Amino acid sequence: MSTFNPATDIPSLTGKVILITGANTGIGKETIISLAKHNPDKIYLASRDKGRANQAIDDIQKAVPGAPIEFIPLDLASLDSVRDAAATFHARSNRLDILINNAGIMAVPSGKTKDGFEIQLGVNHLGHFFLTKLLLPTLQNTAAQASSPMDVRVVNLSSMAYASTPSDGIHFKNLNVGRKPWDVWMRYGQSKLANVLFTKELAGRHSEFTTVAVHPGFINSDLWSTHWTAQFTRWMFNGTWLTVESGSHNSLWAATSPDVKSGNFYFPGGKLENGSKHSNNPKLAKALWDWSEQAVEKFQDFRRYGLSFFECRLGKSGLKVSKIIFGCMSYGNSEWGKWVLDEEATLPLLKAAYDAGINTWDTVEIYLNAQSEVIVRRAIEKFNIPSERLLILTKCFGAVDEENMSNRYGLSRTHSFDSVEASIHHLDPDVEMEETLKALVQSGMVRYLVAWLVWVKITFLNNADE
Ligand SMILES: NC(=O)c1ccc[n+]([C@@H]2O[C@H](COP(=O)([O-])OP(=O)(O)OC[C@H]3O[C@@H](n4cnc5c(N)ncnc54)[C@H](OP(=O)(O)O)[C@@H]3O)[C@@H](O)[C@H]2O)c1
Repeated sequence: MSTFNPATDIPSLTGKVILITGANTGIGKETIISLAKHNPDKIYLASRDKGRANQAIDDIQKAVPGAPIEFIPLDLASLDSVRDAAATFHARSNRLDILINNAGIMAVPSGKTKDGFEIQLGVNHLGHFFLTKLLLPTLQNTAAQASSPMDVRVVNLSSMAYASTPSDGIHFKNLNVGRKPWDVWMRYGQSKLANVLFTKELAGRHSEFTTVAVHPGFINSDLWSTHWTAQFTRWMFNGTWLTVESGSHNSLWAATSPDVKSGNFYFPGGKLENGSKHSNNPKLAKALWDWSEQAVEKFQDFRRYGLSFFECRLGKSGLKVSKIIFGCMSYGNSEWGKWVLDEEATLPLLKAAYDAGINTWDTVEIYLNAQSEVIVRRAIEKFNIPSERLLILTKCFGAVDEENMSNRYGLSRTHSFDSVEASIHHLDPDVEMEETLKALVQSGMVRYLVAWLVWVKITFLNNADE
């Protein structure tokens, strides 16, 4: 690879979707510039500062006019933010061809992530572990459509510092290992060893795509502006550093070359690094994987943590809805048409949506003559979905049957109230309608306006027990 030239050696990336972390500066930004020149479908730049990201996008688009880059907010020091970033990505793309886990911090003072993990391991490894785990289904789906496992890649930025670790490699008992000021380096080494171990374990578990780790070389970037020893090193070796542009070559090669092999760790020039006692220890790789799984577990359980990554407020109201709303229009009876699914095919979809945190379902009485609402009810019953976990949006206006049309459609008071009643009946036939509607009207929550009626339905269904 010593002769690797990004301009000529990167193949066409037409149709490819790329996500790269920490690309608002340094190696990541240069990596995007080179990738953008080969016509990818989209590049997602995931970083923690919107202003810096937008500035980087401007710079990149000056270098590559029209480069298709979009920003995704991502703070690797917060697992909630990582989960949010994955959700944002999933809302925008259903494929991922190249994931470059590039962001990193080095030799920063002792500290913790927002979730209480040692800061260097937390940002450099755990945040990326969680991001990759959440993006895994998309990587797998993309790989399933590809002609070779080489077509889909995960590239992890490690460092030659992977060899400077605590004596046990990863000191699980106290990840904030070391007390002396220069132990910041040992903790950096620990996090970079974690990048290599993660690479090997991921490659072993997922042969359907290609996972590699790289050391980019010594690159004159902001990474060296943290600890005084880093600043001193930068000053000492001033003039001998590689530029950030050449620092991107190993990542670019690993992301696109046919010569890489999954599970490997490459030094600059695509030179295979044989590894250390710790990086070649499969038990340590497994222990790190298990520890990481446990560390992120509660953050992926959206039901325990109140759906924060999927929630947004509905307009200016206080009501929270999932950012993705699940449409139920085509659920009913397939005899109606090719676009309609039967109940049997529909129920697993509703379950999958609920499990993925999509807790707002949109239906309406007129969809398939109320069959859609009935199927929604069956899903709630079958999967024991608690009422406080779900929001159902339903509406009124259209007519359900075709006879006696005069008062069976429109926004008259009569039809609006009838629609509320009918929808509630389809969704929960046990509800005592007369009493419920009377209470709603008396409380002043039901108005003549349809907008209010929609609200009543949402509120009612969300607080069925009240
Ligand atoms: N430079 C070298 O000599 C060298 C050597 C070996 C390995 N590496 C590795 O190469 C990778 C890139 O380094 P670089 O030299 O390009 O460093 P850099 O110029 O300092 O860039 C690091 C990037 O990571 C981002 N980042 C830091 N903390 C983050 C967080 N909590 N959440 C999201 N993004 C975060 C930074 O964003 P902000 O702008 O918001 O801070 C920045 O975009 C790192 O993984 C590093 O360990 C570099």
